[in-house]
Amino acid sequence: MGTREDLFSKCYAFTAAEEARKEGWYPYFRPIEANRGNKVIIEGREMIMAGSNNYLGLAFDERVREAAIKAVEKYGTSCSGSRFMNGTLALHEELEWRLARFVGKEAALTFTTGYQTNLGSISALIGRSDHVVTDKFDHASIMDGIFLSTGLNKHVNLHRFKHNDIDDLQKVLEKIPPGEPILIVLDGVFSMEGDIARLPEIRKIADQFGARIYLDEAHAIGVIGPTGRGTVEHYGNVAQADLIMCTFSKSFGSIGGFVAGDAAVIDYIRHFARPLIFSASMPPANIAAAAKALEIIEAEPERIQRLQAIAQKMLRGFKELGFDIGTAETPIVPLHIKDNQKTFLFWKALYEAGIYVNPVIAPAVPPNGALIRTSYMAIHTDEELDTILEVSGQVGKRLGIIP
Ligand SMILES: Cc1ncc(COP(=O)(O)O)c(C=O)c1O
Repeated sequence: MGTREDLFSKCYAFTAAEEARKEGWYPYFRPIEANRGNKVIIEGREMIMAGSNNYLGLAFDERVREAAIKAVEKYGTSCSGSRFMNGTLALHEELEWRLARFVGKEAALTFTTGYQTNLGSISALIGRSDHVVTDKFDHASIMDGIFLSTGLNKHVNLHRFKHNDIDDLQKVLEKIPPGEPILIVLDGVFSMEGDIARLPEIRKIADQFGARIYLDEAHAIGVIGPTGRGTVEHYGNVAQADLIMCTFSKSFGSIGGFVAGDAAVIDYIRHFARPLIFSASMPPANIAAAAKALEIIEAEPERIQRLQAIAQKMLRGFKELGFDIGTAETPIVPLHIKDNQKTFLFWKALYEAGIYVNPVIAPAVPPNGALIRTSYMAIHTDEELDTILEVSGQVGKRLGIIP
């Protein structure tokens, strides 16, 4: 029989994370002991949170918490089944109806996470020999939706165009044989770069080629557009996406996600999305939290205005200090350091100074694209923001990242 290699041998040989832990600069999986939104307690110390996607601060809002508690009292802690079977509550359907109205679509469908929303919707829609076109910086969950589709349908044509590059998109589309169906999938706001998809121009090209557009608004709804309705509103409602997807784990202060579009398309996804069919539905507390957050987003546009003012302050502040923030234009402000070691040193210095940010290296960004992802919330105080800028400036200078 010979000697068979142990499947686990790669696990025993993987020591990079343990070495980093021992040397004290491993930045991931740090447990948060208490959370107040803009402030958290880690290792017994209070820190300013500048690395969360809780953009509107609703994850700790009293009204959102209260709604979640009431839902648990009425419906319990789990739906204990798939949406297909015993896992659909009246709460799911009411939220779907309200979300569809919010984004101006006929129908919406909720999933248990944002990741599953992309996995399920994209894999349901892309069939054998269909063409899917993505921006090279699209989120991993979009790519995984395509990979699931490839696994199911074996032959899916994947094309990728350079980030936000309209000419490259045009070139990619020109190569696709006429008559074959195309779905263009885009992040509205890109999660690491903090820039915005050029939707009006992409819509024009999509129409020229008869392609459909699927827009992931995870970092856009509640964040851009005068009333927080995302990318479409940001551009003055001049260009629509055919499908709008969003997660509840960011502006909505919950967990879950939804896709919205024409009623027939949503009904199709409902019947063909495996991550919806073969996974338990969104729990009552999370539906109620997302529903309350939606109500607050609609009633309090001043939260969105405050978030947008904070974004402008931080974009300007980091630029003036001499940091490379790339093409950022939202409350996601990346500091492009482009060197793994300096990125970790920068992260550690901020961590020790009581500021929580996220170091990001490949494969989450392209090789040599290491960055510090900072992100802001409507509940940050000016004092906290000034501290973040001041400490970043001092550390950046010391490490030779800025002049
Ligand atoms: C653009 C984008 N889409 C989808 C997701 C997945 O959402 P969730 O984390 O809520 O599952 C994320 C989360 O990081 C994201 O950034």
